Amino acid sequence: MSNKGLNACYEFRRREIRYMVKNIHGKIGSPINLSEQIFLTTFNVTVNMLWGGSLNGEESNLGIEFKDQFEEFVRLMVEPNVSDMFPVLRPFDLQGIESKAKKNISWFYEFFESVIEQRKKLGEGPKMADSKDFLQQLLELNQKGDVKTSISMKETNAVLLNIVTGATDTAFTTIEWGMTELLRHPDKLRRVIEELDAIIGDQNIVEEFHLPRLLYLEAVVKETLRIHPPAPLLMPHMPSETIVVAGYTIPKNFNIFFNVWAIQRDAEFWEDPLQFEPEMFLNVIEKRNYKGNSFDFFPFGSGRRICIGISMAEKIMMLVLATLFVLFRMGIAEWAKT
Ligand code: HEM
Repeated sequence: MSNKGLNACYEFRRREIRYMVKNIHGKIGSPINLSEQIFLTTFNVTVNMLWGGSLNGEESNLGIEFKDQFEEFVRLMVEPNVSDMFPVLRPFDLQGIESKAKKNISWFYEFFESVIEQRKKLGEGPKMADSKDFLQQLLELNQKGDVKTSISMKETNAVLLNIVTGATDTAFTTIEWGMTELLRHPDKLRRVIEELDAIIGDQNIVEEFHLPRLLYLEAVVKETLRIHPPAPLLMPHMPSETIVVAGYTIPKNFNIFFNVWAIQRDAEFWEDPLQFEPEMFLNVIEKRNYKGNSFDFFPFGSGRRICIGISMAEKIMMLVLATLFVLFRMGIAEWAKT
């Protein structure tokens, strides 16, 4: 996830985005499920980075099945479970959530195991610059004899699940919300197109070196993450010791949820908080960043457990959005006039 690592796999992102463009072009004249296209692109970019594979062509059905399973995973994670409130009821699994979750997780583990089996048959995966890919490094940790540093196969699967789900759904949802908000606000959309015209000109291809100059689009992505944070309660945190914070005692092993969704819509910090207003970020684009050090805007969390994929997420969200708007800009310009 370092800059060096991300630059080494730029080609993967470039290739998947080109593939998305080709797919969309191929469907001119017929309806297209853009959501599926965006999901497959973010999913393929992530798995390319992890093990050098992707699910395109015939295999894209598996990618779509992954999306369905993933939606089920999110549904089960967020569904209120009476067993969490009254642990004494846990053995009865009254709502069947635990058994459904086990079935769902097994689907993912089988998927990862087939990838691992393929890798074992083929030997080392494709090399990114002069390094091994992520899966190769996990497998080497798995084969280490040392109890302290080696990881089990179950842990290998869990790490893969953590990264694929953490990377795919969040970026995909933000891109979808970003497009939705712009379609709801044609004046903002016009500004995005004007900026793209000025920076990309009449080329049809957006490259990553264009991104730092697309300041309005960056503000759009930040404003989208403010109003629609994909992890509205972040991840649950749990203190390993009882602590007192600002006069509140937080007992050891209690779950703490940070309601970033409510904080980022709080009128105490944000003027007209429910209004989609990327301009709010424009003059403070450096100050209102993703580092988690301003407590009115932290969609990626804060502190030691802050998201590890911020740079990658930023690149992929900006690249996909800029590419889609460049691709559709003629049609959009016509539509925005109406
Ligand atoms: C818009 C995109 C994304 C958002 C909004 C997001 C948000 C988050 C949040 C809120 C957390 C928990 C932080 C906390 O509890 O304080 C997290 C953790 C994590 N994210 Fe992301 N994420 C995004 C993209 C990504 C990407 C692209 C990757 C990987 C390539 C990734 C990998 C992870 C991992 C592995 C963790 C767990 C880190 C840990 O537990 O130490 N995320 N993310």
